[in-house]
Amino acid sequence: MIRPLFHATVFFGIGLITIGLLYVYKQTATLHLARIFVRRPNTTIPENLRPPPNFIDRLMAERNAHFNMTNIWKTRNITRKYFNPRLHIIYFSDFHVFMQQCDPETFRLRNSHPRRPRPCNVVYTPIKHYRTCAVVGNGGILLHSGCGAEIDAHEFVIRSNLPPVHKYRNDVGSRTDLTIVNVKRLVQIADDLQSFNATLRKAMLARLGQSSRMIFSYSFAFIGSKARYRMQIVDTAIKKNNLSTVTAFPSRSFLESRRLYRELVGKQWKFASTGLNTFALASTFCDQISMYGFYPMSRYQNKSVSYHYYDKLPPSSRHDFDEEYAMLRQMDEDGIIKHVVGKCAIHSENVSVLTPFQAVDNMNALTRRLL
Ligand SMILES: *[C@@H]1O[C@H](CO)[C@@H](O)[C@H](O)[C@H]1NC(C)=O
Ligand SMILES: *[C@@H]1O[C@H](CO)[C@@H](O)[C@H](O)[C@H]1NC(C)=O
Ligand SMILES: *[C@@H]1O[C@H](CO)[C@@H](O)[C@H](O)[C@H]1NC(C)=O
Ligand SMILES: *[C@@H]1O[C@H](CO)[C@@H](O)[C@H](O)[C@H]1NC(C)=O
Ligand SMILES: *[C@@H]1O[C@H](CO)[C@@H](O)[C@H](O)[C@H]1NC(C)=O
Ligand SMILES: *[C@@H]1O[C@H](CO)[C@@H](O)[C@H](O)[C@H]1NC(C)=O
Ligand SMILES: *[C@@H]1O[C@H](CO)[C@@H](O)[C@H](O)[C@H]1NC(C)=O
Repeated sequence: MIRPLFHATVFFGIGLITIGLLYVYKQTATLHLARIFVRRPNTTIPENLRPPPNFIDRLMAERNAHFNMTNIWKTRNITRKYFNPRLHIIYFSDFHVFMQQCDPETFRLRNSHPRRPRPCNVVYTPIKHYRTCAVVGNGGILLHSGCGAEIDAHEFVIRSNLPPVHKYRNDVGSRTDLTIVNVKRLVQIADDLQSFNATLRKAMLARLGQSSRMIFSYSFAFIGSKARYRMQIVDTAIKKNNLSTVTAFPSRSFLESRRLYRELVGKQWKFASTGLNTFALASTFCDQISMYGFYPMSRYQNKSVSYHYYDKLPPSSRHDFDEEYAMLRQMDEDGIIKHVVGKCAIHSENVSVLTPFQAVDNMNALTRRLL
């Protein structure tokens, strides 16, 4: 009579303790997340690093003279046949509507008459039209470039693969308005967000929230692939932690646009780099594009250059970087883009000592040397 009662009490006690422990664990987990949320990196550029007020205007005026709008429009007439933000960067929150009402192949409404097809006008893109854009690659050439202030001065800043910026902001800028990730990076991001390791989880959340209202999108086949589930993981993490990041998806892979390069420069690459595709996409909605961090060689002015500014990995062998580089130089010469290689004139650490006029003179000298 006594023993069963004793056992029951012990079991009941163990049960209570377990529930208590689970509750405490859950509370600490929430607290951790809340703390990262509060400790969002401070993106304010300190007073002494900020360029003088009219410096940016002068820089942009200088840029304006570099661009040849005729050639920009000619290029856009070609890139628009292959890229369109309405097809390539769609709000992820519109995914279900898209699948229900639109044919992904044709981007038409399913219920429209075959002879009078209507476009899929029930989904939207967060992308607007911008006058100036910076397309920032992750090349090691950016290290010690001092290009941060210049990059941040653009209306819209585009990066690839969610790179770290805060630690390098003097050189790479602190803003990201759009980041487009590839397959490998999306897998890594989703894995980190689901990791049991709180350090990894927190670091990835902080990275996702590093720029306010950033659009997070993807460049490969999305519909019917695992990418959709991974994007869902990212989207859920963003919502749970109140980040202002916006998720988006492409209705087709950027790779389907590879014929573009044959039309544009007479070359067909098996696998154009994300950077080049990002340029092509950007050219459809940006008037004046400046490109930073695209330099494939391993040496510059007799100094070694790493592949990425943030790690020591060796270059990817999948891309024809030398030809892509030649293409960027040519487009710079034709005034289609501004391709910035090497140091920027507004060195963040030198800004406070340079007058705007001196700085522009420096930049002219730099431009002459590079072209
Ligand atoms: C961010 O940094 C700036 C300059 O370092 C400082 O003035 C400002 O108070 C900081 N903001 C917050 C919210 O910490
Ligand atoms: C733009 O480029 C075209 C052809 O390359 C050239 O004929 C034209 O003069 C240029 N326009 C300006 C404003 O430089
Ligand atoms: C671009 O295409 C439009 C119409 O498709 C045409 O009117 C315009 O002249 C073209 N611009 C250039 C620079 O080729
Ligand atoms: C969590 O990940 C960090 C960074 O990769 C690593 O240094 C640490 O050892 C990991 N912690 C555990 C408990 O695995
Ligand atoms: C997220 O933001 C909403 C509204 O801004 C607020 O009500 C909510 O408490 C926030 N949640 C967290 C976890 O901070
Ligand atoms: C480049 O660096 C190498 C070794 O670091 C040196 O021998 C060579 O003279 C340098 N060349 C120039 C043009 O500075
Ligand atoms: C700052 O300016 C001085 C003099 O013009 C120059 O020697 C120095 O290299 C500059 N700093 C950087 C980081 O380029």
